[in-house]
Amino acid sequence: MIVAGIMSGTSADGVDVALVEIRARSREGVGVTLLAHRAFPFSRSMRNAILAAMQGESMPAAEFARLGWRLGIAYAEAVEATLQSHPCELKLIGCHGQTLYHQSTPERFLDRKFACTWQAGEAALLAARLRVPVVSNFRPADVLAGGQGAPLVPLADFLCLRHTRRARVLQNIGGIANLTAIPAGATIQQVLAFDSGPGNMVIDALMQRLYDRRMDAGGRVAARGTVLESVVRESMRAGFFRRQPPKSAGREEFGREYAEALLRRCRKLSQRPEDAVATATALTATSIVAAYQRWVAPHLGSAAVDVVVSGGGARNATLMQQMQEQLKPLPWQLTTSDAMGFPAEAKEAMAFALLAWQSWRRRPGNLPAATGASEAVILGQITHAPVPHA
Ligand SMILES: Nc1ncnc2c1ncn2[C@@H]1O[C@H](COP(=O)(O)OP(=O)(O)O)[C@@H](O)[C@H]1O
Ligand SMILES: [Mg+2]
Repeated sequence: MIVAGIMSGTSADGVDVALVEIRARSREGVGVTLLAHRAFPFSRSMRNAILAAMQGESMPAAEFARLGWRLGIAYAEAVEATLQSHPCELKLIGCHGQTLYHQSTPERFLDRKFACTWQAGEAALLAARLRVPVVSNFRPADVLAGGQGAPLVPLADFLCLRHTRRARVLQNIGGIANLTAIPAGATIQQVLAFDSGPGNMVIDALMQRLYDRRMDAGGRVAARGTVLESVVRESMRAGFFRRQPPKSAGREEFGREYAEALLRRCRKLSQRPEDAVATATALTATSIVAAYQRWVAPHLGSAAVDVVVSGGGARNATLMQQMQEQLKPLPWQLTTSDAMGFPAEAKEAMAFALLAWQSWRRRPGNLPAATGASEAVILGQITHAPVPHA
């Protein structure tokens, strides 16, 4: 079955579309082949609208509604353009949507206490234009099962990338950094997964603020700067980094306010903007490796571990180098997911194609050990095509 996965993550950098061929194998087994991947960056105005909505700015309901539909249009156009350059018989779409709010722990609102999550992007628009069923809104079912609603990629990691003889850490570095640790020859119950903290989010925020650029391409600015070690050490004391997994994070934890506070701490020691960017980059690397030392290494208990990096952070050479440096005490191999048939930029979109396929076949998509849910549940809502598909 050919499935399109659409991902637009917390970086709000744009939309990734992956066209994949999915074949059922033996029980639990599945073959996923990438047919095409294309990235569609958001325009400046679109990105600003998304960031404003995510950052809790007050906005009229009309604008939230319009943004949800405008995102739907962006997703539909992205799939249409991908199909135009790679014609194939699409049967199903999995659309993650744009997270505008994610609150994984219950809080009181209008005399009731509950957790909630919101991924915007009108799925009906996709179903109407592409004329195939769409699975969307993956996270609520897991939240309602008592989970964090994140991370959801671990099941896809387990199904596609587990290895019988080597332990693997699938490390995604998007806006947030999340990891899936799979011991060699593991069963599904032995998978450990959680968000380690910021990925590119703080780096991007500082690049925007200090250089009016979206990102630190190649990590070149950070490479010129000096890491302010004491700021990294102090930042690592925050409760989030010490909290036991399962745990998840978002813009609520590491958004603009967090970046501003980090910048203030950097400026006490240095006025050079590149030092602040280098420090934010080191914080990402340090928080990832600290999570390995605290929770992942004891869990894997094996010498041969492949750390397989995906997401935009895989293209930040300075970040990769800092991780490599900090990993030295461990006999672990650092690579990217590119060579495994999962290009770093495409991997999450591929995962949501697979999660849509799971839901379509009424199979669970969450991994209770990863999200903290009490049970494995079928994720998402299905919007049918206007007329039955032949
Ligand atoms: N060439 C690059 N050099 C450095 N950083 C990059 C590069 N390409 C992408 N990134 C970083 O990756 C981010 C996007 O990563 P992505 O995996 O799409 O995350 P998300 O899922 O949050 O959208 C960008 O905002 C940027 O910080
Ligand atoms: Mg992205």
